[in-house]
Amino acid sequence: MIHSLSLDPRNCVGEGSGRMVFAHPDNRDALVKIFKPRKNTGKSFRSLRPVRLRFGLFKAAYKEYEEYIAALARLGHLPTCIPAFWGFVETNLGIGMVVERIDDADGNVAPNLFNYIQNHGLSNDLLTQTNVLVDELVEAGIASSDFRARNIVVGVGEGGSIRLILVDGIAENTLIKIKSYCQPVLRMWMAKKHRRLIEELRKIAEHE
Ligand SMILES: Nc1ncnc2c1ncn2[C@@H]1O[C@H](COP(=O)(O)OP(=O)(O)OP(=O)(O)O)[C@@H](O)[C@H]1O
Ligand SMILES: [Mg+2]
Repeated sequence: MIHSLSLDPRNCVGEGSGRMVFAHPDNRDALVKIFKPRKNTGKSFRSLRPVRLRFGLFKAAYKEYEEYIAALARLGHLPTCIPAFWGFVETNLGIGMVVERIDDADGNVAPNLFNYIQNHGLSNDLLTQTNVLVDELVEAGIASSDFRARNIVVGVGEGGSIRLILVDGIAENTLIKIKSYCQPVLRMWMAKKHRRLIEELRKIAEHE
């Protein structure tokens, strides 16, 4: 029998445009990401793309797993710059993707960079940590097509220091996947994404 998890819609700990994120009821270290039904069900050109046709609502999960498994193959161990992926579960709210929950220093779900900067401002240490994250992603061979503040959370590193983890936007979204096979190309591409992220972070800090 398939065990179905019961999630309380009021216990949502995070939300993006495509998914709602819940605490796992049986595992304190896990979160469950539920894919929201797509609003536009019309047959647009995008919805007819082969990957979209095959994976539907789970296209993002497919892309994430592709990068994750490529990183496992490359590193020979779990990458630490993204959460561990623990498969899928049935829930009362639909299929959920189970992932490692990233905590802050107090044991709460780690804030994303957008919320963190709004509350704490943008420090040089934080900027340095974005360099570290980019280096780790490139080292693991992981591409991030959506390298934005809301897709990065502020976790805890050694000795209680800040450590950034990419929790979403993990995908190479181009048809010809040169970045997957050529690390210098990935490095250049991620350097561009990094510059845009820094611009975004400075804007968030200005409106803080
Ligand atoms: N593994 C995690 N640990 C801690 N917090 C997380 C984790 N995954 C997601 N979150 C929180 O939940 C929020 C939404 O998650 P996520 O970005 O995966 O949703 P999404 O709908 O795919 O986003 P998008 O709008 O970019 O498509 C994030 O901004 C982050 O604050
Ligand atoms: Mg997101």
